[in-house]
Amino acid sequence: SPAAVGFVSEDEYLEIQGITREQSGDYECSASNDVAAPVVRRVKVTVNYPPYISEAKGTGVPVGQKGTLQCEASAVPSAEFQWYKDDKRLAEGKKGVKVENRPFLSKLIFFNVSEHDYGNYTCVASNRLGHTNASITLFELPDNPIASRTSPASPGSASCPPCTV
Ligand SMILES: *[C@@H]1O[C@H](CO)[C@@H](O)[C@H](O)[C@H]1NC(C)=O
Ligand SMILES: *[C@@H]1O[C@H](CO)[C@@H](O)[C@H](O)[C@H]1NC(C)=O
Ligand SMILES: *[C@@H]1O[C@H](CO)[C@@H](O)[C@H](O)[C@H]1NC(C)=O
Repeated sequence: SPAAVGFVSEDEYLEIQGITREQSGDYECSASNDVAAPVVRRVKVTVNYPPYISEAKGTGVPVGQKGTLQCEASAVPSAEFQWYKDDKRLAEGKKGVKVENRPFLSKLIFFNVSEHDYGNYTCVASNRLGHTNASITLFELPDNPIASRTSPASPGSASCPPCTV
């Protein structure tokens, strides 16, 4: 809103120089004279900007478990995502791997991690204003010793936090 960002113009025009993405939003224009009550109109201002990746975290997974790499990017228009492993683009429909894209988030899901899945992945986020990338590592964790050693004396240990991916 104009009040929140401190823009007030008494003119016919409101000129915002060097606009930033925080200044997106609804602006109000009010016109009045001595004869009638003011007329107010809202104008929606959209600020486009190239993607920036706000979160890209590596994850450790034991062989044979499900692993998910996540890449979060902010952009307007919203980003499109691509994944690479060691600079090779991941083929669509690769067996056992799925990419889930949402406007601000891409997930690379391995349903059953095998030795050759470990390594460095690159998430590329792009829109028509630009692109950026981040490197994410899928690394090997030893099979969870607590989960496989669940004893009858401690039933609660079956839900150990490291099991969640
Ligand atoms: C994961 O892959 C291994 C090796 O291909 C296989 O032996 C195992 O049964 C698979 N596990 C699941 C849950 O599909
Ligand atoms: C992954 O990237 C890290 C940091 O750039 C590097 O040290 C490591 O050797 C890479 N691993 C592989 C398997 O390429
Ligand atoms: C990631 O960005 C760097 C630096 O801009 C660039 O050199 C590299 O080629 C990019 N990698 C991919 C896979 O797009």
